[in-house]
Amino acid sequence: MEIITNSPEETYEFGEKLTDHFRGGDILLLIGELGAGKTTLIKGLAVGFGIDNEITSPTFTLMNHYSTHDHTIKNLVHIDTYRLKDEKELKDIGIEDYLSDPESLCIIEWPEKMVELLKNKKTFTITIEHLAENQRKITMV
Ligand SMILES: Nc1ncnc2c1ncn2[C@@H]1O[C@H](COP(=O)(O)OP(=O)(O)OP(=O)(O)O)[C@@H](O)[C@H]1O
Ligand SMILES: [Mg+2]
Repeated sequence: MEIITNSPEETYEFGEKLTDHFRGGDILLLIGELGAGKTTLIKGLAVGFGIDNEITSPTFTLMNHYSTHDHTIKNLVHIDTYRLKDEKELKDIGIEDYLSDPESLCIIEWPEKMVELLKNKKTFTITIEHLAENQRKITMV
């Protein structure tokens, strides 16, 4: 699946409509440079899941989790490894339990930094490419 968005709102709306593609236990990798729109897409996805908390990037905490409402996926786990130095830091905060939890959807910004933890895991990948100031190409495989 591939779409072009022409504003942050369009990327957000794309995220919002994606919810039905996922099941509990899924892991979604978000690939894209700084400012590509990864967090924007997750904010939309969260709204699609009925989460009313504000989504903020777990830049320093590495992981945030949110409870969904009326959805078969019970938790949305947002991981951002941008500042991660060692995968062990993620193990220490219990990430492995979430990665194998059948009721959680894990969404990971900068998955390149946790290769070891993702080894042998089935994942979905969304790539966001910066085409122009307000234009992005979003590809999902
Ligand atoms: N079509 C678009 N889709 C998404 N964001 C866009 C678009 N056009 C412009 N933007 C802007 O790009 C920025 C995307 O920021 P966002 O935090 O979502 O990126 P990110 O990929 O999570 O970055 P980081 O790697 O720093 O976490 C926002 O400032 C947003 O307004
Ligand atoms: Mg981000």
